[in-house]
Amino acid sequence: DWTPGNVVAEQVDRIRAQVGDGRVICALSGGVDSAVAAALVQRAVGDQLTCVFVDHGLLRQGEPEQVERDFVAATGVVLKVVDAREQFLGALAGVTDPEEKRKIIGREFIRVFEQAAREVVAESGAHGEEVRFLVQGTLYPDVVESGGGEGAANIKSHHNVGGLPDDLQFELVEPLRTLFKDEVRAVGLELGLPDAIVWRQPFPGPGLGIRIIGEVTGERLDLLRAADAIAREELTRAGLDRTVWQCPVVLLADVRSVGVQGDGRTYGHPVVLRPVTSEDAMTADWARVPYEVLARLSTRITNEVPEVNRVVLDVTSKPPGTIEWE
Ligand code: XMP
Repeated sequence: DWTPGNVVAEQVDRIRAQVGDGRVICALSGGVDSAVAAALVQRAVGDQLTCVFVDHGLLRQGEPEQVERDFVAATGVVLKVVDAREQFLGALAGVTDPEEKRKIIGREFIRVFEQAAREVVAESGAHGEEVRFLVQGTLYPDVVESGGGEGAANIKSHHNVGGLPDDLQFELVEPLRTLFKDEVRAVGLELGLPDAIVWRQPFPGPGLGIRIIGEVTGERLDLLRAADAIAREELTRAGLDRTVWQCPVVLLADVRSVGVQGDGRTYGHPVVLRPVTSEDAMTADWARVPYEVLARLSTRITNEVPEVNRVVLDVTSKPPGTIEWE
């Protein structure tokens, strides 16, 4: 019988058999796959597992706290948090090309994770152990897509970029390899993970970095984070969380338009709302979000984010548009 409880029991046995008394490391992204994979491994081998969360400053409002506080509270996992916000901002300074941004974010992520992994090794070295295993949230569709092989360790699911450095060779632990996304969610609920993590909509690894059209700066990130939080709050309040596949909010940081507020003229930035429906992100349609919801969103964003004086709606399907603007 397929039940989430049976999956947990079976995977816990398998993980214990694979890992023995070895040490394990896992990179958490804030997304559901890495969270459920980590929770399963911690259920199996407890604090033989160390999770690493790289705060790159490109997450949405409340997401670092979801990992650092709520996920830890729900699972009891040992978590190492690396505040790399300055490092990522520095590396992204002056960069406007989308693929260049992705490359830089991927590269910095590997660097930071590598350093963190070395520290975990050093710390555990004091106890005479090495870190041999790396947890990956690989799902069944990923396995099929890549031909079913046991690929070399990489962090594909978050950043679509290369592997870990050669001198950091791990054996992979992939407890979600037989599961589809909806099954992963069921297992996450079974393990007591917070709804906000289990039901998180898809969010790109490079995060808000590819939702600022133009250079990424701390100020622009704050502004976009505020607008995005309002959009998510209102879509959730309207009960559209699961009908809308995802709703990127995009800041056109190099565009200004004239507006009027009170007695004064404004010269602010537009944000684009990009709500879409989709089955698998390969194709998508623009979501027919009710006018009242759009009206509330627009009013709140322009009232609460003073630098934004215009809210526009993207009504393009995919193809020809992609879901993200970069
Ligand atoms: P597009 O924009 O290509 O997006 O229609 C399809 C899906 O992929 C997500 N996306 C990414 N995910 N790294 C990721 O991990 C990326 O660089 C990336 N770019 C797009 C996007 O959010 C959508 O779900």
